[in-house]
Amino acid sequence: MENEIRLQKFMAECGVASRRKCEELILAGKVKVNGKVVDQLGTKINVNKDKVEFENKQIKLEEKKVYILLNKPIGYVTTVDEQFGRDKVTDLIKVKERIVPVGRLDMYTSGALILSNDGDFIYKITHPKHEINKTYTVTIKGFVTKDEVEKLRKGVDIGEYVTKPAKVKILKTDEEKNISRLEIVIHEGKNRQVRRMCEAVGRKVLALHRSKIGEISVKNLELGKWRYLSEIEVKKVCGSNLENKRK
Ligand code: URA
Repeated sequence: MENEIRLQKFMAECGVASRRKCEELILAGKVKVNGKVVDQLGTKINVNKDKVEFENKQIKLEEKKVYILLNKPIGYVTTVDEQFGRDKVTDLIKVKERIVPVGRLDMYTSGALILSNDGDFIYKITHPKHEINKTYTVTIKGFVTKDEVEKLRKGVDIGEYVTKPAKVKILKTDEEKNISRLEIVIHEGKNRQVRRMCEAVGRKVLALHRSKIGEISVKNLELGKWRYLSEIEVKKVCGSNLENKRK
């Protein structure tokens, strides 16, 4: 029927999260349609008649899509449905649109994080097939060896998964402080991947910062500050036809 769409698609279009994540939220019983919890996939809703609630707030189609770059400080979580009272990255950005983080950065990692209310954009950016480069600066304890760098480059076993080839550059070694600083570029997004890669070669991570997503850098953005991405940046980061979609 006209105006009927799948519940997870509607949620993604409202900017709740990617379609896949919305399916998880539905299965977890966090979504209500007309006051009743729907915890099965396959439900269709009429966008003009049905009332959809997530976390007891009605969600509606947003007209304006926004794309934000945050330089995330450490100590903030990227979870949308935070249950332990920890500080959320969304607390740092006061906009009226219901934005969500595009992908994850762990609580102790700082740096580039994109947030948006455009579910299709989120899906594109987070889907592994798009292979968007993410650049990290990692500080590790001790002097990294050539052999360790080679292993990180080729791919390491991080527990039931071998990472894809990565670009690895030594930025600095400091004898006095007994640390090494590396730049690592990956295009996958396994949970805590960079930390686990370093652990796999026997190195303890002291600090981790994501400097770039694609070519979008937080170099000129203070920690805790954010800015809107330009249309050109949005298009560049996902290399998509978003412009056509907006027309
Ligand atoms: N790798 C990590 O270890 N942590 C992140 O937050 C991102 C990549």
